[in-house]
Amino acid sequence: MLFLQLPLLAVFLPGGNNEEAIQEPISFQLIQISSFANQTWAQNQGSGWLDELQTHSWESELGSIIFLHTWSKGNFSDEELMDLELLFRVYFIGFIREVQDHASALKLEYPFTLQVSLGCELHSRETPKSFFHVAYQGSDFLSFQNMSWVPSPEGGSRAQNVCNLINQYQGIQETVHGLIRNTCPRFVLGLLDAGKMYLQRQVRPQAWLSSSPTLSPDWLLLVCHVSGFYPKPVWVMWMRGEQELPGTKQGGILPNADGTWYLWVILNVKAEDVADLSCWVRHSSLGSEDIIISWGHHISMNLTPLAVVVPLTLLIGLALWFKKHCSYQDIL
Ligand SMILES: *[C@@H]1O[C@H](CO)[C@@H](O)[C@H](O)[C@H]1NC(C)=O
Ligand SMILES: *[C@@H]1O[C@H](CO)[C@@H](O)[C@H](O)[C@H]1NC(C)=O
Ligand SMILES: *[C@@H]1O[C@H](CO)[C@@H](O)[C@H](O)[C@H]1NC(C)=O
Repeated sequence: MLFLQLPLLAVFLPGGNNEEAIQEPISFQLIQISSFANQTWAQNQGSGWLDELQTHSWESELGSIIFLHTWSKGNFSDEELMDLELLFRVYFIGFIREVQDHASALKLEYPFTLQVSLGCELHSRETPKSFFHVAYQGSDFLSFQNMSWVPSPEGGSRAQNVCNLINQYQGIQETVHGLIRNTCPRFVLGLLDAGKMYLQRQVRPQAWLSSSPTLSPDWLLLVCHVSGFYPKPVWVMWMRGEQELPGTKQGGILPNADGTWYLWVILNVKAEDVADLSCWVRHSSLGSEDIIISWGHHISMNLTPLAVVVPLTLLIGLALWFKKHCSYQDIL
């Protein structure tokens, strides 16, 4: 049944045409970060992510799921969501207690952090993949494969001992299996459908230029800023006339707080060669009308508010970036 629905993914996937969508898997993952300061103090943080977009967070005090978007419930009933919430609540409490109880036997040294990433990845033409990875102190520790817990080479004998312990509990294996194999893909399909309007929206970029002096007085660093676009794929290039300039260098794409993206593209150029230069931006939201800003004309733009907006955008972007990437990149 699920398999038959997968071709629909191509329609649901954010942005782009179907061919692009087919190549791009979409994943949903829950991330857990558990910090153990000493024998008595520990805390859990939890969040849910649809690819790079955070859709859920976990309120640890109340033990409840926070739905960050109107569509974050997907097509699950309140009843099913309450069952899941209860499962996570019991799990989080049990997790801390079990880890604390076994910490010394398993030679886990305070303070330590355990990170968990679990979820599924949907491909338009293959059966979904599911995953459950655990990291200890930022290194791979163990994972769930084919109904059992398998230590990672980096985990050494410590991970082997943990696996030996938890492999005895068949109930846990069955619950995890059901969650990542069945619940997750079903939830993601509902989520993609419910969030269709949001995930398939088209937001036009704004572009502006700036320059900074370089170490050599004869050279300038020209910067073309492109911000506020969605979806993520974008093409930005410095051009002379209609000619692409191969010296164009692209900075990283950073997230804005509203879920749109920011990108800058630079060109190192001799000060006397700036005539005729322009920055071109192509994006699905613009149709066939590229944004073209010519160097020299940009001064007419009102640059004052940008002086405030840009650092702010960057800061918020960086904060989001860190929040996401520091939490689980070591696991994957
Ligand atoms: C345990 O760690 C917490 C948080 O760092 C700290 O406030 C508390 O005093 C520590 N307790 C002990 C017994 O060391
Ligand atoms: C998973 O387990 C089944 C049955 O125990 C076995 O047939 C299959 O080869 C295993 N797959 C992997 C990837 O280990
Ligand atoms: C939600 O949508 C998915 C995909 O369309 C479907 O498989 C599932 O049965 C629907 N309902 C629930 C409660 O999961």
